[in-house]
Amino acid sequence: MTFWHFSSTEELRGDWLFPTETRFGPGRIAELGSALATLGIRRPLIVTDRGLTATPIPARIVALAATTSEPLLWAGADQNPTGEQVMAGTAAFHAHRADGVIALGGGSGLDAGKTVALMAGLGGDLWRFAYPRSLEVQAERSKVPIVAIPTTAGTGAEVEASGIITDPSKPVKAGIVNLSMLPRLVIADPELTLDLPRHLTAWTGMDALSHNLEALLVRQFHPMADAIGAAGVKVCHDWLPRAVDDGHDIVARSYMMAAAIMGATSFVKGLGAMHALSHAIGALIGAQHGLTNAVLMPAVLRFNRPAIEQPIVRLASFLGLASGFEAYYDAVTALASRVGIPDRLGDIGVARQDFERLAHMALPDFNASCNPRPLDLPSLVSILEAAS
Ligand SMILES: [Fe+2]
Repeated sequence: MTFWHFSSTEELRGDWLFPTETRFGPGRIAELGSALATLGIRRPLIVTDRGLTATPIPARIVALAATTSEPLLWAGADQNPTGEQVMAGTAAFHAHRADGVIALGGGSGLDAGKTVALMAGLGGDLWRFAYPRSLEVQAERSKVPIVAIPTTAGTGAEVEASGIITDPSKPVKAGIVNLSMLPRLVIADPELTLDLPRHLTAWTGMDALSHNLEALLVRQFHPMADAIGAAGVKVCHDWLPRAVDDGHDIVARSYMMAAAIMGATSFVKGLGAMHALSHAIGALIGAQHGLTNAVLMPAVLRFNRPAIEQPIVRLASFLGLASGFEAYYDAVTALASRVGIPDRLGDIGVARQDFERLAHMALPDFNASCNPRPLDLPSLVSILEAAS
């Protein structure tokens, strides 16, 4: 537990203004229609990924939105959405004469939706918003409002201003960054995650853990983000096993949805080698993002050890573990194994012959520059070897 323990759906609610306006709590998706009316959105484009259409959620969102508006559902994003898909979604926005975007889903639907809103508002070449070119065009701001509705507890993309979009021609998973991608409103309803399968609960939950943990370990003065990251790590350790064991445990689902938001709030500091390598692996073989982070986590912690001893010792103490790096390392590997994460990169389809190429792809990733221990090509290959 963190500081307070809440155990009823009445208590697990909040109207948060940090980092963006968020209506949090079981059942709050019922407020979607009135929220759209308040925001003046009359013709929303609902952007989601193909995978979610196998569930009743998109139809439910359409029905709720239709109480006050004329929505159109566009479910053309893949697990790793591409630039071409974003432009197809943008064309759907204009064809519908839409005036806002509802970004719906896990990371794929949310990132695609936020990027469609960016391109619908600004047009032109998507890739000018890819980091680091994005730094030169931050004065451009889209006015298309975004309502974000997460259906997993992992990415936290609902509360931050970027999207990961794949350019298959390179291949690269580019970080599309623009402050106007920050949603105007988030409706975070943990009930939407109740039917998420066990393995996706584990993988997305480990992504939330990797955000809180990697952000905490970025060496940068940001006490607010550090406090949130440390508490987020604790929430993941306390609640992820329960959410995986019993998907219908609304208390565990609520805490994990909060942990996902905490992770994305704390990663304003940046992330590290887990994410740099995970983006490269995702771009090359399409592996699931949270699962890849989870498999890389022990090797990255080991590699970074000389630079993170102090914060890890303090984290172990905050978690009530025995003192020292090994105590936290043991706790995190036990958690991964408890929720069914495989040990080796080979188990998720990463081939040893691709290590050099993956290192070359990971090094320019923004998150590589934030890693607490400096990275170069040999060190990235050494991490991949340690994880294989
Ligand atoms: Fe992530």
